[in-house]
Amino acid sequence: MRTLAFALAAAVLAAGTPLAARTVSVTMPPERQLFKDAPGADLARGKCQTCHSSDYIFTQPPMTKAQWLAEASKMKNVYGAPLEESQLEPIAAYLVTQNGKE
Ligand code: HEC
Repeated sequence: MRTLAFALAAAVLAAGTPLAARTVSVTMPPERQLFKDAPGADLARGKCQTCHSSDYIFTQPPMTKAQWLAEASKMKNVYGAPLEESQLEPIAAYLVTQNGKE
């Protein structure tokens, strides 16, 4: 074990200073706000973009209100989205205006 620790220390020293902090720069793509103004927009903006962007809603095929309701329920029940039960219906009603079908 001591030999392994020594070998690792030697490898680290030999490789330079890989453990030293380095500054890297990452440019993230700009956040796109795809939710258009309509009743319920603030709710969707507040509740549906904390874990992922609004793009997720628009890369889905158009869905019915019932399907959006199921999707919002899945976000709450499976992924732990902080949603009140009473907020699911208004969000579904809004989402069907954004990417919906009859
Ligand atoms: C607590 C975090 C969280 C919140 C808040 C959240 N989602 Fe998600 N969402 C996820 C995760 C995790 C996935 C799966 C990501 C993956 O597979 O890459 C996902 C995926 C999706 C997808 C892609 C299809 C699918 O079912 O995987 C849609 C559409 C979606 N979310 C809609 C919503 C809507 C609408 C809301 C607001 C009601 C919302 N999300 C809020 C975590 C969240």
